[in-house]
Amino acid sequence: MRVRCKVNGADRTADDVWEGESLLYMLRERLGLPGSKNACEQGECGSCTVYLDGTPVCSCLVAAGQAAGREVVTVEGLSSGDGLSAVQEAFLQAGAVQCGFCTPGLVVAVHDLLERSPEPSDPQIREALAGNLCRCTGYEKIMEAVRLAARGER
Ligand code: FES
Ligand code: FES
Repeated sequence: MRVRCKVNGADRTADDVWEGESLLYMLRERLGLPGSKNACEQGECGSCTVYLDGTPVCSCLVAAGQAAGREVVTVEGLSSGDGLSAVQEAFLQAGAVQCGFCTPGLVVAVHDLLERSPEPSDPQIREALAGNLCRCTGYEKIMEAVRLAARGER
């Protein structure tokens, strides 16, 4: 089937999408957007998090067909122009990126958190990121990145 949707502000069309195909697969393999990562494909790790009509979702759990006519924003769409977004920059500055597999999903989740709560407490940060697993950093650097992004100009 053919799926038409808006991705990162542009009208996109994916052809030959099969019924069981995930939005994550469509984004990565058909639309050339490999930022969202496939780590578990079971909704457990959050590495595939994207916005769907403004709400963060695990794109591995969303059928590609469900995105038809809707708006998707991936980690690639969060930065303005060629520069990094404030959240992306904060992850770099805090050293919160190691293997980087969890990072795109975390960046989307943090972006969403700061939209809702510009000055989150540590418990709010932990709760907001509870669905995003990281095997490398021990989370403290991620916490620091969020605090940094919250303090900085966004
Ligand atoms: S790949 Fe989607 S939640 Fe892990
Ligand atoms: S940096 Fe490796 S999983 Fe988070």
